Amino acid sequence: MKLRELTDGVIAVAKEAGEFIRSQQQVVKSDDIEKKGEHDFVTYVDKNAEKMIVDGLSLLIPEAGFIAEEGTSDKRGEVYNWIVDPLDGTTNFINGISPFAVSIALQRSGKTILGVVYEISLDECFYAWEDGGAFMNGKTISTSLRDTFSRSLIATGFPYYDYSRTRDFLSTLEYFMRETSGVRRLGSAATDLVYVAAGRFDAFFEYSLKPWDVAAGAFIVEQAGGIVTDFRGEENYINGKEIIASNRPLFNVVFEVVKSRLA
Ligand code: IPD
Ligand code: CA
Ligand code: CA
Repeated sequence: MKLRELTDGVIAVAKEAGEFIRSQQQVVKSDDIEKKGEHDFVTYVDKNAEKMIVDGLSLLIPEAGFIAEEGTSDKRGEVYNWIVDPLDGTTNFINGISPFAVSIALQRSGKTILGVVYEISLDECFYAWEDGGAFMNGKTISTSLRDTFSRSLIATGFPYYDYSRTRDFLSTLEYFMRETSGVRRLGSAATDLVYVAAGRFDAFFEYSLKPWDVAAGAFIVEQAGGIVTDFRGEENYINGKEIIASNRPLFNVVFEVVKSRLA
């Protein structure tokens, strides 16, 4: 199957799960909230959405394996593996705020070749496939052209575990607060990344993220013309738990700010 057509299939799977998640917004109750870790929550909505996604993707590539947040499948594929976050932004979802998204990436021999992030509350589907460009709801998207750091808008996330780096993180945050036009924390890393891809944010950085938070969004940023690295400027940003995603003109300055304090 061609990647373009496969992407259409993945979009359909992501939207079906998104519809289900949306339908549960007024239904989910506080009794449904389970704790996975100290500040890490999950509900039947995340789990059922993941089952729907794993079933749907299994029809697209029967031999592919999964790296999926809620552990629906531990099958590993020799060549193809899907990286799935069924609901990125669970804390937003259970508190009735936006954004929250489905995130699906496909890797071939460890290299990402397709990404879909469906932001449910605004019905915005961001997607890209290898060498195919990047899109949102059928329109081409690209990273911003902004080259003035003082005008830039930066996104980040606040880690909810591993507080050993909090001081350095706060010093990084303070620098961005003083020197840019603003800092945002949306609560969905997949959405932060596709907003960089669409030129809404100029850059994003965060640490302690998991592969399913970033794999699809980072790929979409690259296909939209942006630069993605870890805090050392290297490529280990899917498994390495550190990520910087930026437009091209501002990458060097954003990278230096983050590297000098957090690398
Ligand atoms: C979380 C979101 C959030 C980020 C957290 C993630 P989840 O994902 O992406 O923005 O700051 O680190 O865990 O738990 O809602 O899937
Ligand atoms: Ca997530
Ligand atoms: Ca999740």
